[in-house]
Amino acid sequence: MKAEKYKSLLAQIGALIEGETDLIAVMSNVAAALHQEMGFWWTGFYRVVGDQLVLGPFQGPVACMHIAKGRGVCGTAWQRGETVVVADVEQFPGHIACSSESRSEIVVPLFDAGRVIAVLDIDSERLAAFDDTDRHYLEQICRMIEQNIS
Ligand code: SME
Repeated sequence: MKAEKYKSLLAQIGALIEGETDLIAVMSNVAAALHQEMGFWWTGFYRVVGDQLVLGPFQGPVACMHIAKGRGVCGTAWQRGETVVVADVEQFPGHIACSSESRSEIVVPLFDAGRVIAVLDIDSERLAAFDDTDRHYLEQICRMIEQNIS
């Protein structure tokens, strides 16, 4: 069951990143653990650099490297400062198709002192792969990362 998988993953990630304050190192292992355990199509981070998102640590096929604020699912999650779940990416206005295999997506922002500093972006090759369970646990993982680096 998905929730059970996430629960054990949370414990695994907690142990994995304990004491590590380097954001890139933490993002790298979180992306790897999530991707490996959950079997997603694409799992990774974009960091806020100036006025755009820049590709960070990820697992999966090559992806676009720069995304403007408000553009695509990632840029929208950044602009809104909240998680965005898209059941069918073809129905999302302005969706950035890094891969034609991607069918659904979830993007969770990470904060530092109230500002979005990065987003966690996960893609699936299945339609409507993400629900409130994913949102709940992925937001918890992002809160763990924030605590490590602040
Ligand atoms: N589809 C995303 C772009 C990033 S790739 O999926 C990895 C978007 O619309 O923001």
